[in-house]
Amino acid sequence: MSDPRPVLLEATAISKSYFKLGHEIPVLRNANLTMREGDMCSVRGKSGVGKSTLLHVLGTLDRPTTGTVRFGEGATARDVFALPEGELAAFRNRTMGFVFQFHHLLPELSALENAALPALIGRKPRHEALRAAQALLDEVGLGHRVHHRPGELSGGEQQRVAVARALVTNPRLVLADEPTGNLDQRTSDEIHELIVKLNRDRGVAFLVVTHNNGLAELLPRRLEMRDGVVYEGAP
Ligand SMILES: Nc1ncnc2c1ncn2[C@@H]1O[C@H](COP(=O)(O)OP(=O)(O)O)[C@@H](O)[C@H]1O
Ligand SMILES: [Mg+2]
Repeated sequence: MSDPRPVLLEATAISKSYFKLGHEIPVLRNANLTMREGDMCSVRGKSGVGKSTLLHVLGTLDRPTTGTVRFGEGATARDVFALPEGELAAFRNRTMGFVFQFHHLLPELSALENAALPALIGRKPRHEALRAAQALLDEVGLGHRVHHRPGELSGGEQQRVAVARALVTNPRLVLADEPTGNLDQRTSDEIHELIVKLNRDRGVAFLVVTHNNGLAELLPRRLEMRDGVVYEGAP
């Protein structure tokens, strides 16, 4: 039976090489991936295999050497790399959220301002952006820490702020690159549960690069990268 959920993104024949001192370093080699609305995928693979490169291309932060990435399906589908740069940035801002291994919070801003930042960049009125950020910080269990700066928060709390920030524009897809790679087991487990809860409550899809077996087991779809392509793992 075919999956009834709409297609969220379709990456087709993605190749990406880096060029160093005149040498081509092929990283992605004709990789394909389709995700549907609300999909929960882990991505595993050896260090250097191209997981971060794949995430950057899917997140439109980096262009592939060849290949296309389409978001949506039917009449509303769009070939994102065909968009002019300004439109692509606006599309990325409202469609996607990012969580990285290192939280990348701005040290001078409070947790609330950090979490609100993508909404402010997306030109949401300030009071609305801050209200959305407050609601998300409540949701990730940090409602009592909103005026703290990142330096005044634990590693797990900082990563929760980063998760709140990724969701503040109400995106359809969150791309996370080893989001708990720097956290202890217990704190990692808490973030993993949070990811599952946000998917369940909001229907947002997650694509998570992780070396953490516990997290990979929590997510229904397991992908593996090898030789520059994406394989569907054991269910
Ligand atoms: N900006 C870059 N310039 C040149 N080579 C790069 C660049 N970024 C990544 N690479 C190379 O591409 C390969 C894949 O990197 P990456 O996507 O970071 O792998 P992973 O996330 O799976 O560890 C590695 O061999 C890395 O050295
Ligand atoms: Mg990486």
